[in-house]
Amino acid sequence: MPSLLDLTSQGDVGTISDESKLASVTLMSPQQLYELWERQNWQSHTIDFTRDRQDWASMDPALRRQLAWNLSSFFIGEERVTTQFSGLVMAYESQSEEAFLTTQQVDEARHAQHFNRFYEQVLGIEGTFEDRLARARGDLNPAFVEMFDGVLVDWGRRLVENPGDLEAKVDFVTLYHMIIEGTLALTGQWFLTDYMERMGILPGWVEGFRLISQDEHRHVAYGTWFLREKAADPALKRRIAERLAELIPLAAAVLVPPGADPNSYAILDYTMEETNTFAFNALHRRLKVIGIDLASLAAAATA
Ligand SMILES: [Fe+2]
Ligand SMILES: [Fe+2]
Repeated sequence: MPSLLDLTSQGDVGTISDESKLASVTLMSPQQLYELWERQNWQSHTIDFTRDRQDWASMDPALRRQLAWNLSSFFIGEERVTTQFSGLVMAYESQSEEAFLTTQQVDEARHAQHFNRFYEQVLGIEGTFEDRLARARGDLNPAFVEMFDGVLVDWGRRLVENPGDLEAKVDFVTLYHMIIEGTLALTGQWFLTDYMERMGILPGWVEGFRLISQDEHRHVAYGTWFLREKAADPALKRRIAERLAELIPLAAAVLVPPGADPNSYAILDYTMEETNTFAFNALHRRLKVIGIDLASLAAAATA
């Protein structure tokens, strides 16, 4: 039986391509994920941005504008997922789960620190952390704002108000770990890192982003474990599927660059088909582990 322990240096179950293994894959427990966090800990403030500053200064202004939307979506996204996470920490059901969830919250704060430092030292945006967040907000698209300022905040608040509400916890993890991290963030991370490496630019940013991606795989591994446990209850399994059917159209809209045709666009030099296929294949594989079929979900949504 394949073990997720073998996969965590590269990814979580979303990276397994052999579908026959998915239903029986062994998932890491929150205790194992906490211990992995101790081994994979890193520092955002030691990354050297010297080359990045030179690359940014000499970059074609058109590419700088394209990158702004991608980078700002991550900067604001990391700030949002840090500040809206507290309700899930409060909703722990075991000591090991509590330990893991606190590491996830500090990971998200570290990711926001990486971007804040990049915006200050490479983009040269002076002032406070808040000033840089305010500047980055100008680059977002409306679907992103709806997801991160609307749905995420509302569903997080339900957990803060009642941490014992299991349905609220299932909704929150479905949104946060399956959609925001597993579908959107890991897709953006894969394509952006690939692009920077092909172009040979922004090495400090790439170093930080690779470490962020390693953290995100650990987070998504927790979400997959949690939802598989809860999906043993048919009512909760149905609830996860209903939430996904609501969220997938909004997630697809988050991937559209501002002002672009939603039916035909490119992100950097990747086509809409490439980015969407990557995003939804990874979601499909994780849902198979949980016991939910994405294809039948899509059919139900259009019925
Ligand atoms: Fe993050
Ligand atoms: Fe995360």
